Amino acid sequence: MKIEPHKKFSGVFYADKNLATVNLVPGEKVYGEQLINDKKIQYRSWDHFRSKPAAAIKKGLKEFPLKEGMKVLYLGVASGTTASHFSDIIGPDGIIYGIDISERVLRDLISHAEKRGNIIPILADSRKPEDYENNVLEKVDLVYADVADPEEVKIFIRNCKKFLKPKGYGMIAIKSRSIDVIKDPKQIYKESQKMLEEDFEILDFVTLDPYERDHGFFVCKMK
Ligand SMILES: C[S@@+](CC[C@H](N)C(=O)[O-])C[C@H]1O[C@@H](n2cnc3c(N)ncnc32)[C@H](O)[C@@H]1O
Repeated sequence: MKIEPHKKFSGVFYADKNLATVNLVPGEKVYGEQLINDKKIQYRSWDHFRSKPAAAIKKGLKEFPLKEGMKVLYLGVASGTTASHFSDIIGPDGIIYGIDISERVLRDLISHAEKRGNIIPILADSRKPEDYENNVLEKVDLVYADVADPEEVKIFIRNCKKFLKPKGYGMIAIKSRSIDVIKDPKQIYKESQKMLEEDFEILDFVTLDPYERDHGFFVCKMK
C-alpha cells in the first residue's frame, strides 16, 4: 500500500485512497480499523464512513487546523473513533478533554485513553460547561463538537466562550435532522452559519454526503 502525506494537513496521510494517521500505540486498534506498516511506521486507516472529520477531508476540506501539541475540547467524544485519530495527530504533547453524557460509551473509551495518555474522558453534559470547568484545566486551542443535539450550535458557542483561547479554532459537525427533521438541510446550514458568524470567522464548510447523509461540517476561528 502506498502511503503519502496529505499535501496540506500535517499528521494526515493517504493510504491509497483512504486517510490514515500514525498509530500512537502501535499494535492497538480502536474500532476495527486496518493497521498498515510502512518503513517502520505503523498507520491506522481513518474510516471516512465512520468519522466526520475524515469525511470532511475526503470531501475536499481546505482548512483543518488540528496540529501536533494542540489542546482540544471534544464535545461528544463517544467511544473514541474520531478522538483516537485526533490523539494520533496531536501526539504525546497534546491533550483531548473528551466530554460525553453517556456512561456506556465513555466506558469503552477509558482503556484506550489509558494507553494513549493524551485523552481525558469526562462524563458530563456539554450543555452545562460549568459542571466540568474544574476538569478542563487550561484554555484550549480547538473545540470540536459532534453532539447531535438540537441546540448544538449554541452548546458549541457557549463552550468556546468558556474554554477556547482568543483566536482559537472550532470545528462542528451539524446533523441537520437532529436540529429539524422536516427543514431543508441547506436552510439549517445557513441558519447555523449565521449564528456562528456572530463570534467566529468561517474558514470552511463542506457537506458530508454521501459518507454521512444530511450533515454539514464547519471550520471556524474565534474573532
Ligand atoms: C454522533 S455521536 C459522536 C461520535 C464521535 N464524535 C465520533 O466521531 O467518534 C454523539 C455523541 O454525543 C453524545 N451526546 C449527546 N448529547 C450530549 C450532551 N448534551 N453532552 C455531551 N455528550 C452528548 C452522545 O452520547 C454520543 O456519544
